[in-house]
Parts: sequence; C-alpha cells; structure tokens
Amino acid sequence: MPTPPPNIRRHEGVISRQDRERLLGQKGCVVWFTGLSGSGKSTVSRRAEERLTAAGRLVYVLDGDNVRHGLCADLGFSDRDRTENIRRIGHVAALLADAGAIVLTAFISPFRKDRQQVRDAVGQDFLEVFVDAPLAVCEQRDPKGLYQKARKGEIPEFTGISSPYEPPTDPDLRLPTGELSLDDCAARVQQLLESRGLLQPPASKS
Ligand SMILES: Nc1ncnc2c1ncn2[C@@H]1O[C@H](COP(=O)(O)OP(=O)(O)O)[C@@H](O)[C@H]1O
Ligand SMILES: [Mg+2]
Repeated sequence: MPTPPPNIRRHEGVISRQDRERLLGQKGCVVWFTGLSGSGKSTVSRRAEERLTAAGRLVYVLDGDNVRHGLCADLGFSDRDRTENIRRIGHVAALLADAGAIVLTAFISPFRKDRQQVRDAVGQDFLEVFVDAPLAVCEQRDPKGLYQKARKGEIPEFTGISSPYEPPTDPDLRLPTGELSLDDCAARVQQLLESRGLLQPPASKS
C-alpha cells in the first residue's frame, strides 16, 4: 500500500459507522461478485439489488462497465491496470460500506491477490461471491459479443481467452448461473446476508 503524503491525517467525526448503521437498520458490507465476462455478475447483482431494495435496504451497485467510464477511464486491461482498477474500486466500496450501504460489486477481478487486497481494505464485512459459469456457457451467451471479437483477435488480453482468470479457492458463496435461475441466485445472495446478520442493525449502545 502506498505511504500517505506527510501532514495528512485522518479526521474522525462524532458520528460513527454504527450510528449510521443503526439509522439504516443494517450493517454496511461489500458483496464482491467475481467471474468471467458473461457469467452473470451484472445481472445477478442488479436482481439482488431489486430484492434487497424492495425489502427496505440501502444497496449500491458498482459495476465494471460503469466505473470504466469515469473513475477508471484512464485504465486499460493490462495486468497492472486491472490491479489498479480493483484497488480503486475496493477503496470506493469500503467507503460506501462505511457509510452503511450494502455494496454489490460486479467486476471480473481476475486476480486472487487483488481480491485479497480488497478484503484487507474492507475488513470483516467482505463477502466473496463466485459467479461460476463455465467458459463455454459464457461464450455461448456472449451478451455483448465480446467473445466473438476476442476469438477473432480483436480484443487483446480478454479474460478466459488470452488473459488468465483465477477462481476463488474459498468463496463465501458460489453461484452456478448455468444451473440456477436468476431469481434463485438473487435469493441466495439475500440469504447469505441474512445468515451473516448483516440485515440487522448493530446492537444499541449500552
Ligand atoms: N442464472 C443466471 N444468472 C445470471 N445471468 C444469467 C443467468 N442465466 C442466464 N443469464 C444470462 O447471462 C448473461 C450474463 O451477462 P452479464 O450479467 O452481463 O455478465 P457479466 O456482468 O458477468 O459480464 C445475461 O445475458 C443473462 O441474461
Ligand atoms: Mg457486467
């Protein structure tokens, strides 16, 4: 992690994360979806967002395709830029979780060490969800026509074709989207949050 510039100190307010979480009746957390392009990260995170919002939760989705237009518009797809992309998103996700939001992130995030770095930045309320569809299924779906282009050599460094993907070894949840329906996937995400007590406010101050 880079050393902060000299003379820069954190300034803490009077209101704590727990105060915000009590107000919202939930705990801030980061649900990190990882998987190949076309595995279903965007689709499942949006459906989970709908379910949780309907249940009165404050949810925010960070999606790879959106942040690359702004926050990470200067980054490409080299290993180095992918790492920097995930580092930035990880910190944004951690800030939103500190604000009390349930943050759902939808990035390929192909490297284990980068995901581990985000886990370290976020702390205990980080849940890794492996959106696990075989390459053949993703390629068959090809929702954005990217596999077709990658096979023709029009997209260099395409994950699964010409750039590696390192699957999670011990995810908090695995979603085989080739076998489960979209609604089942979203329901499992909600169940994961429930089972970890994240849909409850923190205990009141004594
Ligand atoms: N169970 C499922 N979960 C998620 N997506 C599914 C499922 N079954 C089929 N799909 C389809 O797979 C595609 C996934 O695309 P997308 O969500 O954009 O993937 P990613 O964000 O991982 O690149 C969509 O066209 C979606 O409709
Ligand atoms: Mg997507």
